Amino acid sequence: MKLEVVILGAGQGTRMKSSLPKVLHLVAGMPLLEHVVKTAQVLEPAAIHVVIGHGGDQVCDALARYDINWVVQEQQLGTGHAVRQALPAVSSDSTVLVLYGDVPLTRLSTLQQLVHQAQDGPALLTAELQNPNGYGRILRDENGTLLGVVEDKDATPSQRRIQEVNTGLLAAPCRDFQEYLPLVENNNQQGEFYLPDILSLAVAAGKVVKSCIAESALEILGVNDRVQLNQVEREVQRRQAEQLMRDGVSIADSGRLDIRGSLSCAEDVSIDVNVVFEGTVQLGPGVSIGANCVLSDVSVGEGSVVHPMSHLQGTVVGNNCSVGPYARLRPGTVLADGARVGNFVETKKANIGAGSKVNHLSYIGDCEMGAEVNIGAGTITCNYDGVNKHKTEIGQGVFVGSNSTLVAPLLIEDQGFVAAGSTVTTKVAKGDLAVSRTRQRNIQGWKRPRKPDTKD
Ligand code: UD1
Ligand code: MG
Repeated sequence: MKLEVVILGAGQGTRMKSSLPKVLHLVAGMPLLEHVVKTAQVLEPAAIHVVIGHGGDQVCDALARYDINWVVQEQQLGTGHAVRQALPAVSSDSTVLVLYGDVPLTRLSTLQQLVHQAQDGPALLTAELQNPNGYGRILRDENGTLLGVVEDKDATPSQRRIQEVNTGLLAAPCRDFQEYLPLVENNNQQGEFYLPDILSLAVAAGKVVKSCIAESALEILGVNDRVQLNQVEREVQRRQAEQLMRDGVSIADSGRLDIRGSLSCAEDVSIDVNVVFEGTVQLGPGVSIGANCVLSDVSVGEGSVVHPMSHLQGTVVGNNCSVGPYARLRPGTVLADGARVGNFVETKKANIGAGSKVNHLSYIGDCEMGAEVNIGAGTITCNYDGVNKHKTEIGQGVFVGSNSTLVAPLLIEDQGFVAAGSTVTTKVAKGDLAVSRTRQRNIQGWKRPRKPDTKD
C-alpha cells in the first residue's frame, strides 16, 4: 500500500518564548521541521502533508524547496482536528503515518516498523519512561491488548502510574482515519479533539491496534522549550560525531564539535576541540583542523593543516596548505597547493598561488596572485577607493617587502620586487624593483629633547 505522511506543526510553541515558529528553531543548523521532513522523505511517501497554524507563511517559506502539501489549521483544536484538516488531500487507499514537526530524533527503522504494522489497522509507537508525567498513558487489558490512550490531564491517579506512554506517532490505513476521526469528541479536560481517541474507537469497532516500542526515550523527545531543544541538539551532534569516528575521523572530544550542515571527511582527518562546521564542508585525506576553528562552506585538500583560532568562509584550500593560527579567510578565497596563510591575515576574493606565502598581519582582497610569491608582514591590498573595488594582480615569484601598501588597480609582473615600506600605485614591470619610500636621512650630532631641569 502506498504511504502518505502527515506532519503536525500547528502548535503555538508558547514555551519557546520566541517570535519564531517552534518548528523553525534550528537543530544542527536546520529547522526542526526540516529534520522530520527529511526523515519522512527517506520512506519515499507518495505525499507529505504538513499542518501549520494560522500565519505559517514563514514556515512555508523556510521549506519552500520541498515538495510539501501545506495544510492550514486556522484554530488549534487538538491533534485529531489537525489530522482531519489534512485528510481531504490524502488518497483513501494509502497508509497514513502521522509525525510531529517537533519530534526530530525518531529513527528510520522505528518508523518503517510502525508503517509495516499498520497495513490493516492502526499501529502506535509507544515508549517506556521512568518519568511519564505529561504524556498520554497507554491503556491495556489484562492480556496486554491495547485499548486506548488516556491523556495525563484526564487520567486517574492509578492510570498516571502507567509508565508506557503515547509518543504521538502513529500510522493507520487512511480509511481508519476517515472512519474514526469524525467520531472523535472534545469532551475532555482540554476541550480538544484528541487524535489517539481513534484508537479506542477502532478497538470498540472490533479492530486490533498494534504497537511498537521506541528503543530509547530520546527517539521520541519532543521540543517544547529551549532546554529540550538543546537536548535534541546535543543528541544530534553526538550521533554525527559518533558516525564520523566510525568512519575513521579522529575527534579530540565528541562533545566539543558542532556540525551545522554537512561535513564529509576522507580518511585520517583529525579535528581538535571546539570546532564548528557550517554549511557544506569537505575535508581531504589527512587534513588536520586545530582547536577553536570555524569553517563555513569550505573544502580543504589532502594533507593541509588549519591551525587553531582560524575562521574560514566560502574558501577552497588546496593540498598541503597551512592556514593560521588566527587566519580569517573570507568568501572567494582560493589557496593553491602548498600555499601558506599565517596569523592575523585576512583574505577575500583572493587566489593565492601554489607555494605562495602570506604569513603575517596582511589584508589580501580582490587579488590574483601567482605561484611562489612572498608577501611580507603587514602588506595591505588597498582594494577600495570608497566607491569601487579594484583588483591587484601579482605575478609569479614576486616578492613584496613588509609593510607595503598595494594600491589597486595594480599589476606587479613576474619576479617583481617591492621594497619594504613602499606604497605602490603604478605597475611594476617584470623583474623590476619598486621603491617608494622617503630616503633615510641621518642627522649627526643630533641632540635629544630634554626636560628643562635636566643638568648636563
Ligand atoms: C500529545 C498526545 C499525547 C502524547 C504526546 C507526546 C494528543 C491528544 N496527545 O500530547 O498522548 O503523549 O503528544 O508528545 O495527541 N498540533 C497541531 N494542532 C493542534 C494541536 C497540536 O498541529 O491543534 C501539533 C503540535 O504542533 C505538535 C503536536 O501536534 O507538533 C503535538 O501537540 P501537543 O500539543 O504538543 O500535544 P501534547 O499535549 O504534547
Ligand atoms: Mg507536546
